[in-house]
Amino acid sequence: SSDPLVIFTPSGKRGHFPVGTPILTAARQLGVDLDSVCGGRGICSKCQITPSYGEFPKHGVTVHDTALSEWNAVEERYDQKRGLPKGRRLGCQATVQGDVVIDVPPESQVHKQVVRKRAEVREITLDPTVHLTYVEVVEPDMHKPSGDLERLLQALRVATGENNIELDTHLLRPLQPILRKGNWTVTAAIHRGRDGATPRVIALWPGYFDGPVYGLAVDLGSTTIAGHLCNLSTGEVVASSGLMNPQIRFGEDLMSRVSYAMMNKGGDHEMTGAVRAGLNQLVTDIASEAGADKSQILDAVFVMNPVMHHLFLGIDPFELGQAPFALATSDALSLNATDIGLDIAPGTRAYILPCIAGHVGADAAGVALSEAPDRSEDLVLVVDVGTNAEILLGDRNGVQACSSPTGPAFEGAQISAGQRAAPGAIERVEIDPVTKEPRFRVIGVDLWSDEDGFDAAIGATGVTGICGSGIIEVIAEMRMAGIVDASGLIGSAEQTGTSRCFADGRTHSYRLWDGDADHGPITITNGDIRAIQMAKAALYSGARLLMDKRGVDTVDRVVLAGAFGAHISAKHAMVLGMIPDCPLDKVTSAGNAAGTGARIALLNRAARTQIETLVRKIEKVETAVEPRFQEHFVNASAMPNAVEPYPVLRS
Ligand code: FES
Repeated sequence: SSDPLVIFTPSGKRGHFPVGTPILTAARQLGVDLDSVCGGRGICSKCQITPSYGEFPKHGVTVHDTALSEWNAVEERYDQKRGLPKGRRLGCQATVQGDVVIDVPPESQVHKQVVRKRAEVREITLDPTVHLTYVEVVEPDMHKPSGDLERLLQALRVATGENNIELDTHLLRPLQPILRKGNWTVTAAIHRGRDGATPRVIALWPGYFDGPVYGLAVDLGSTTIAGHLCNLSTGEVVASSGLMNPQIRFGEDLMSRVSYAMMNKGGDHEMTGAVRAGLNQLVTDIASEAGADKSQILDAVFVMNPVMHHLFLGIDPFELGQAPFALATSDALSLNATDIGLDIAPGTRAYILPCIAGHVGADAAGVALSEAPDRSEDLVLVVDVGTNAEILLGDRNGVQACSSPTGPAFEGAQISAGQRAAPGAIERVEIDPVTKEPRFRVIGVDLWSDEDGFDAAIGATGVTGICGSGIIEVIAEMRMAGIVDASGLIGSAEQTGTSRCFADGRTHSYRLWDGDADHGPITITNGDIRAIQMAKAALYSGARLLMDKRGVDTVDRVVLAGAFGAHISAKHAMVLGMIPDCPLDKVTSAGNAAGTGARIALLNRAARTQIETLVRKIEKVETAVEPRFQEHFVNASAMPNAVEPYPVLRS
């Protein structure tokens, strides 16, 4: 072809185009990812490109500064009003004059890579469900009567090339004033759900609206509600916030909330109202932290366990409390924000990840999305520890999932000196194997308890209790120091050689801290050890059951997910036998993986299809009806385990 050659970087896409072709048009034809909100009117500047000059021997072209057209009036005007960075051109205005190499900077790409956070295993390509489109609408004409809506949709059809665009009903009323206020120009936020779904206008602004628009990713936990607010055109997290789930007043754990609903008429409604109010509080907090307007929150994605899922949607969780643990609905849901009482832009579609099974919720689906066991080369065990442990085992050949009723012991409940992770709580413990003397660290204090200045540093807060990670460490340390035996019994002072062990009813306890004037001593009782043994046996048995299904005795690596997983030490967890034996350096923490999964689904449309497909393929294992679960449970109450070898631990 004698037409000039146009090469785009970084994609490498190329083609010949006649002189005078706008760069945006060339990009569109080649499928190059170049953004545009205003459809080439020189308003949005999303189409910025950088022409390259010089010799490109690899491509056999030499590019002169005449390869693009001169600045036109539109570019001049844009530059005067808002400033165009040096070297940049508007892709919709600059036209091809000769062979040219065009760089598309990351800001101008729609599908850019989102900056990854530490511990995140997968890349996120930005492809949100909501995009802004600016259009000019034909003015009404008495002689050719047609509705404002029809003329708006016509303009949008031309701008997007999509023929089936609809307007969200709530916009019918404001439509006419908005069109007139914008002098027949308008910016529409268009939501595109799954492939093939009807694109829907969910918000409108008069004239050109530059955003930003936001999306909300929420992990609705039984204890805490945590949310991230993301800018949908950059993928950045602009604010994060969390609060206690107000449902706690109806019961600390899920089963007590299910029974509250059973015992109290309308109890499920009360809890639905409470969690929605909490969520709206979170939205208010997070929007004010980001300085964002709630009406600019145009997408929301949720993960949660099955009971929270039902209570949030206003479904009585009764059936989840008994076999066969039937979910009212397990598929992913896309709902009107207003239908679930969400105080954000009224047209917003809220997406809820699919539930895996009656006990394995959308939160586990979020973990599966973020940790991607289905893409793992090696066999990975992913454990999300909460009052219910949700467990995934898998690799490229398949994924199994189950949940296990660990109870709240790992969170410090059912432990005599247990408390939530908060200042004053013991979080780290070491016990000298010879002297059996402990030292510990307290949340909020940067010193070990035997270091100078510790007493002053704890100040008035004092040492108030022991949190989940602390209880695991102290019991594992007691085990390693010979203070507690494999069956979980604390020895007497004579047996252990330390007066910290003392008779306490029919068993013995270990005094971890002597107390001070304001706070009593902190002791670990045999009952505490029992509670942890039960919890860890449940966790381990769930994992073991999945390994049985798979026909393996070991896993290649372990990922600990959840807030709790982020704080416990792999070594101590293994000493207790919470997780199967595995090289310690193969045990990693993923942080709030469920929340990360929600964020991935928020920022990338394809991820929604991916997780829906994966969830259908996951093999679900119901621990409550598996006979081997009991068998594993009995063996697993020993520390680390009565029948399993722990070669890594032994070496
Ligand atoms: Fe909007 Fe070029 S596409 S300024």
